[in-house]
Amino acid sequence: MRDEGKAMSASQAKPVVAIVGAGRVGRALGRRLHQRGWPIGAVVTRSLRTARAAVRAIGAGNPSDRLDASVLDADLILIATPDVAIPSVARQLAAFSGAPPFVSKGGGFDLSSRGKIVLHTRGALNRAVLRLNHRGTATKSNSDRAAVTRKDASLSKRGGFDLAQPWRGKIVLHTCGALDRAVLRPMERRGAATGALHPLQTFSGQHLPNLDGCACAIDGNPAAMACARRICRELGCIPIRVPRNSRAAYHAAAVLAAGHVLAAVEAAARILMALGFSRRKAIKTLLPLTRQTLSNFERSGGPRSWTGPASRGDLQTIRKHLSALRRFPREYREAYAALTRLGVLLLARQPRAARKRLQTALRG
Ligand SMILES: NC(=O)c1ccc[n+]([C@@H]2O[C@H](COP(=O)([O-])OP(=O)(O)OC[C@H]3O[C@@H](n4cnc5c(N)ncnc54)[C@H](OP(=O)(O)O)[C@@H]3O)[C@@H](O)[C@H]2O)c1
Repeated sequence: MRDEGKAMSASQAKPVVAIVGAGRVGRALGRRLHQRGWPIGAVVTRSLRTARAAVRAIGAGNPSDRLDASVLDADLILIATPDVAIPSVARQLAAFSGAPPFVSKGGGFDLSSRGKIVLHTRGALNRAVLRLNHRGTATKSNSDRAAVTRKDASLSKRGGFDLAQPWRGKIVLHTCGALDRAVLRPMERRGAATGALHPLQTFSGQHLPNLDGCACAIDGNPAAMACARRICRELGCIPIRVPRNSRAAYHAAAVLAAGHVLAAVEAAARILMALGFSRRKAIKTLLPLTRQTLSNFERSGGPRSWTGPASRGDLQTIRKHLSALRRFPREYREAYAALTRLGVLLLARQPRAARKRLQTALRG
């Protein structure tokens, strides 16, 4: 993984952000960006109730219970739906063309229709270079067309609205850890710059998590990457690059370090509760142990912080533990055995020999 920390001009205007999928991550990112002055546009979920709740949580935005072309009013579209919904959301969004902003019925350039004024500064061209035909390029009757140089042609494209690529100039980022930007290809084909922005933090929806100093896996083509880096800077995150074909493994690591640690601590709390502890007391009893273990890990690394019967090769105690766990659901024993094997593999001084001894104990 490479560290990505390039600066972009601080004087850049803040892009309007549309949020599609405004649950735990969408709300938190929306809120943080809004706090930093980024304008919020459409906030889309599948029900008006949740979209309105999201707008309240973010502090800004237009709630909507359906995907429609209004999303194209934004410069940046953040897709924070559940992972499984991203492909269909991308396909639906790509189908929107938006209205060519300045086209009149005759296909000409209609300044009055939307109250916007576009000026170019090219002395050799008149205003016809900004006129659109049905393909969104300068019209054939444009007498200046012969004089359009490469540079001027790009001016014509920017001034016009390319109906084949209505998403040109838009940036679309998803927040999924396991997927790369290929899932956004339908929008890329329509001209959008696409990428991913995955904050390596846990968003429970209860509190706004601290993003300062947390890593954020970014991916994308150059415009999307520049935007993702800019968001990271705003949020205080450290942008990291994860190779596209390694994102699933990267995300598995994140899940081991967050959700799986939580599952282990929750199981420990439930065991104490079965012994008569209140939930509060169980958590209070266990957390100093977990905190100290993590603190030791941070300071001294894994093997030197490893304690417990497996670290001492104490198979008798491991057998006792497995026997005691019989009164709990099967998953307790299975997880205990699997984590013991993993601990031996990763942390023991002589993992091969320790593993052999352990196999016998776990069979018993
Ligand atoms: N939670 C985390 O800790 C975390 C951390 C980093 C990255 N991520 C990633 O961020 C993304 C979102 O995760 P999350 O935890 O925020 O999920 P979430 O809390 O379940 O929120 C998902 C949101 O998407 C909306 N939604 C679902 N299907 C939709 C659709 N077809 N069109 C529009 N909106 C739709 C849901 O609202 P309705 O149900 O009301 O439609 C909800 O607002 C995922 O890709 C996840 O992997 C999560």
